[in-house]
Amino acid sequence: MVWIIGCKGMLGSEVCRTLSEKNIDFTGTDSSVSILDYSALENFACGKDISFIVNCAAYTAVDKAESEVEKARALNADGPKNIARLAKKLACPLIHISTDYVFDGSASSPISENSPIKPIGAYGLTKAEGEKALVAETDDFYILRTAWLYGFDGKNFVYTMIRAMNSHESVKVVSDQRGTPTNCQTLSLVISKIIEDRMSKKHEVPNGIYHVTDEGETTWFDFTREIKKQALKAGILVNEGCVVNPCSTSEYPTPAKRPSYSVLDKSKIQKALGFKLPEWQESLGKFINSPLFDKKRIDIVE
Ligand SMILES: NC(=O)c1ccc[n+]([C@@H]2O[C@H](COP(=O)([O-])OP(=O)(O)OC[C@H]3O[C@@H](n4cnc5c(N)ncnc54)[C@H](OP(=O)(O)O)[C@@H]3O)[C@@H](O)[C@H]2O)c1
Repeated sequence: MVWIIGCKGMLGSEVCRTLSEKNIDFTGTDSSVSILDYSALENFACGKDISFIVNCAAYTAVDKAESEVEKARALNADGPKNIARLAKKLACPLIHISTDYVFDGSASSPISENSPIKPIGAYGLTKAEGEKALVAETDDFYILRTAWLYGFDGKNFVYTMIRAMNSHESVKVVSDQRGTPTNCQTLSLVISKIIEDRMSKKHEVPNGIYHVTDEGETTWFDFTREIKKQALKAGILVNEGCVVNPCSTSEYPTPAKRPSYSVLDKSKIQKALGFKLPEWQESLGKFINSPLFDKKRIDIVE
């Protein structure tokens, strides 16, 4: 049985949905089985036939992390250490999710897994510490670094921008940060494929660190223009006149510094799975046109 930790978060919910669709037996826990409490984790696993662990729990408030470093460290580093210790004890593989924020953004071409990590903020720093702590506890891990995630069950940029465009004459969006928007469905599919591949023993994906996002690259500004185009077409954006204006990061200061370039090189995971990742525009279309798209989150009550 697969154990999804953080099953009610944005990614965790999507992973549960994907495993359910694929008839893969799973169980999930939320913060009531805290990753900060090793005994609680051990007690939960006791008597269950856990054969795989997927950790989607984390401290994800990037700006707040600057003033709550210890809280972020507990969830992003101590928690994964506890989970990895238990995974080792149970002799089961562990999939853990990390981030593009472990890099400093100084690259100018897609970043590979062995590029040196150099976080520039507290969130990235604690996620980097989590990777290190996990690797020290178990060898049987898959660390998947992802970026710019959006999904049906969480607050995210796509919902926020559609809501903003529906209610404002114009919006300003940063145009000097490059990355790749990623639908949680893409990442969940990769997670499920690693599990299936491993369970079938057909073609084991080697343990290690992998970069997993949708394909292509853009800026937050161009991402917003694409959201506008697709949401208008889908009829969920009604304010066609809203103007999307570019701005620079310096015009829109935030407590945490963001990497200016965080496009990840995904060739390693694509080769390991024999799987082509979709372009980000295609994945956005899948999201916007899905019956799971939550119109209440863009203030449309049906
Ligand atoms: N969102 C992004 O853009 C992005 C980008 C790159 C990487 N990532 C990584 O992707 C992963 C998933 O992110 P997400 O956006 O899906 O996160 P999320 O929606 O914020 O979900 C995180 C989950 O962690 C759970 N949690 C908090 N404290 C816990 C505890 N002590 N014990 C057990 N669970 C606890 C929360 O449960 P409760 O709701 O019960 O508190 C929540 O459901 C994270 O590792 C994140 O770092 C995210």
